[in-house]
Amino acid sequence: MALKITVIGTGYLGATHAAAMAELGFEVLGLDVVPEKIEMLAAGRVPMYEPGLEELLQRHVAGIPGSTGRLRFTTSWEEVGEFGDVHFVCVNTPQKHGEYACDMSYVDAAFASLAPQLRRPCLVVGKSTVPVGSATRLAALLAERAPAGADAELAWNPEFLREGFAVQDTLRPDRIVAGVGSDRAEKLLREVYATPLGEGTPFVVTDYPTAELVKTAANSFLATKISFINAMAEVCEAADGDVVKLAEAIGHDDRIGRKFLRAGIGFGGGCLPKDIRAFMARAGELGVDQALTFLREVDSINMRRRGQMVELAREAVGGSFLGTTVAVLGATFKPDSDDVRDSPALNVAGQIHLQGGQVTVYDPKGMDNARAVFPTLAYAPSALEAARGAQVVLHLTEWGEFRELDPEALGAVVAERRILDGRNALDPSRWREAGWDFRALGRPTA
Ligand code: UGA
Repeated sequence: MALKITVIGTGYLGATHAAAMAELGFEVLGLDVVPEKIEMLAAGRVPMYEPGLEELLQRHVAGIPGSTGRLRFTTSWEEVGEFGDVHFVCVNTPQKHGEYACDMSYVDAAFASLAPQLRRPCLVVGKSTVPVGSATRLAALLAERAPAGADAELAWNPEFLREGFAVQDTLRPDRIVAGVGSDRAEKLLREVYATPLGEGTPFVVTDYPTAELVKTAANSFLATKISFINAMAEVCEAADGDVVKLAEAIGHDDRIGRKFLRAGIGFGGGCLPKDIRAFMARAGELGVDQALTFLREVDSINMRRRGQMVELAREAVGGSFLGTTVAVLGATFKPDSDDVRDSPALNVAGQIHLQGGQVTVYDPKGMDNARAVFPTLAYAPSALEAARGAQVVLHLTEWGEFRELDPEALGAVVAERRILDGRNALDPSRWREAGWDFRALGRPTA
């Protein structure tokens, strides 16, 4: 009999995981405590922009004509407990308000609701990013509260999907990490992931703490890599060097590698910033805060880039934003996503607005989310409209359509042909040839 799978929490991670599990051939039941989310998903609609996700969902959601019908949604914990052989917990772990630490309330609430419903042998698999030590604590909670007792086991299986590539990263992950407490748990996870394992995906079996740490270590390493190249950008700015060339040159050393060395206004989003902070907080509790002091520096370098972008823009408009018109291209924290959580682009736009600039923003997918966070900024329906009358254009999220912009067409509507590239993604020569004053973070002025 094929395993029956439940997915608890249907945000980014959970919705993608549920659809992917159905794609792999399993019967899947998704649960969320927000009924509106469940209604949307049950109608085959996704509450966020993620390439390919809606199509995948519609291929499997029960009741949609032509679907496999393998994927259903519910708000009932009882139904979840009855249905599942394997329960994936995919709820959010945001930063605690006013603290660095991770807010575990959603994870704790999910386990508290699930445990009493576990009456038959099953495996609960945590996917949320949690402070190390959480799995051991939650395993004890299951043992105590699940009617199935020791037959309701826990595993920790961190998730490495990137927004914008969520479907591909879930169906074809570059590794699967299984923090387990028994051979039975390992065997069940191997069964769940039989397809990617058959295609050669590495499977790393660990204990609970190591599995939890793999996730925070991976995100900390990525954040460090970005801040490293952004620190080099600061030095390049002072020494008239070119950080893009520098990244290319060091990246040829395959011990260093070219990826995640794109200098610019830095990292944002719902993961990297909060994960490095939660990791520092947890290290403090464990008495090893010194081991992660460098992450404080990683965080400050990152936040400084936003300030530097604002400074460059201020210089460009003659020293003050008062009475100036500024166009901002991009609002999301990265392209191919509508996510504006801790978005460097929106942060820069907001700072300039608060300093008296008239800021008009355009983003291909993030307009509604941006408007909700920053209703006082102006929004335009296209890059061209955002740039109309602008004294300076800021390129802050590297959407493909911005690389395709025609410098002549944009030049015809702006007040002054001046552009700042905060993502080092535009071709300087194309813009300069069209008479633009082009500047980019960490690159020479001409
Ligand atoms: C990140 C990790 O990459 C995933 O592996 C992880 O699963 C996920 O967090 C998570 O913890 O759930 P994501 O937040 O989607 O994924 O975004 P990234 O692609 O890592 O980009 C993060 C930020 O870094 C973006 O703002 C991006 O613009 C910036 N970035 C990235 C740079 O500034 N330079 C680079 O070279 C690369």
